[in-house]
Amino acid sequence: MSEPERAGAEVPRWAPSPREYDDLALALDGILAEVTVAAPANVASREDATPELAAAELTDLEGTPVARLDVTVAAETAPGAWTLTGTVTPLRPREDGVFRHLHRSPAQVRDTFGPDTRVAAVVVDAPLDRAALDRLAGAVAGYDATVLLPLVGAGSPRGVSAHTLVRATLAAAELLPGQPLVVPVPLAARADPAADLALRDLVAGAYGDPVRLPDEDGGDGDRGGHPAPVAAALGPATRSAHQRGLVVFFTGLSGSGKSTLARRLHDLVLERGDRTVTQLDGDVVRRMLSAGLGFSRADREANIARIGFVAAEVARHGGLAICAPIAPYAATRAEVRRMVEAAGGTFVLIHVSTPLAECERRDRKGLYAKARAGLIPEFTGISDPYEPPDDADLALDTSDVTVEDAVAKVLGLLDERGLLSSPPPTP
Ligand code: ADX
Repeated sequence: MSEPERAGAEVPRWAPSPREYDDLALALDGILAEVTVAAPANVASREDATPELAAAELTDLEGTPVARLDVTVAAETAPGAWTLTGTVTPLRPREDGVFRHLHRSPAQVRDTFGPDTRVAAVVVDAPLDRAALDRLAGAVAGYDATVLLPLVGAGSPRGVSAHTLVRATLAAAELLPGQPLVVPVPLAARADPAADLALRDLVAGAYGDPVRLPDEDGGDGDRGGHPAPVAAALGPATRSAHQRGLVVFFTGLSGSGKSTLARRLHDLVLERGDRTVTQLDGDVVRRMLSAGLGFSRADREANIARIGFVAAEVARHGGLAICAPIAPYAATRAEVRRMVEAAGGTFVLIHVSTPLAECERRDRKGLYAKARAGLIPEFTGISDPYEPPDDADLALDTSDVTVEDAVAKVLGLLDERGLLSSPPPTP
């Protein structure tokens, strides 16, 4: 594909998605033969057409090129959307990644142990508890050495962050015989469990003899908890619900009562003194964070993404963020949920389901009248869509509950889930 007429043409360069970047890291280590990346829109739409694209430079998040991609297959997955598959060559050593100093390629591990050493390679996707450690000690007993491979790729660690998983695995390694080596591997999870399993075996097989972590009871039996050093490594990851970050996200039409409920919830939480609160009200955010954005789909998505970003950061540090934008699109709300949960927080979605007719009857800001008169274009509910959530934890129609009753329901839900204060001691 490297046609001469492309010689001298600038090789396009971009930062792949986190998942693609994880695959790239595995390919650079020789674990995957090829990577597949989506071509960014500006590359896919180049008039010299993506199928002709022979090579690209893939960068880290800061834009430093880390690898050259030599394209073997370009596929159009949707009109104008291309994926590129190819082999990669390193351009410079990568300087990123969780516990970078622990990184070893399979070749480096083989060099460390020598050709005659029988190495057990164990993929780890959750902190090892007592049951897992006991069984693991048995499973690796016949080997000369053990490599524990905590999976730090996108979507792989179960229940903890990537760095917590590595810390917990380092602590667990101390409890196993033979001083296992711990090597984090950025394996990104696929949507398909069978593909995940095959990839895990591929990773383990690259480092040694794959030894699957025995987990016959599916985690239902008495697993004995985590030994003290592992529990200590888990640290904040083992915080109970009321100590973890929390995002209460109200969504609903303009005039549905979101802001009123959010403000009242804010005040009541402060009165109880359970938590500190950050308020991210729709109209306030539009003045502060999102000044300059309008109401096109793209601008609304950007607005909600900013709210989600801030809320997730609040949650990361154990705080409570109360958000109250219209947030008309289900996909954007789902993205906020994903961001909050990835930051270790709990996401609670509340649909303020007051019907349009009632919002319009109230018309506190006079906007519906203007929208009906055609003076405000793209007005939610009138000339722009609102996708009602099917994943709300609570729906509140403020035309048939009072503000006090509605907020009591929200507090009831949060208390029931132990999200606000520590449960009362059992007598
Ligand atoms: S969102 O769609 O991006 O979530 P957001 O909650 O920030 O909307 O802002 C909604 C507020 O902006 C409304 O309460 C209303 O006061 C005002 N507004 C101005 N123009 C529009 C419009 N075209 N659609 C909806 N709300 C609008």
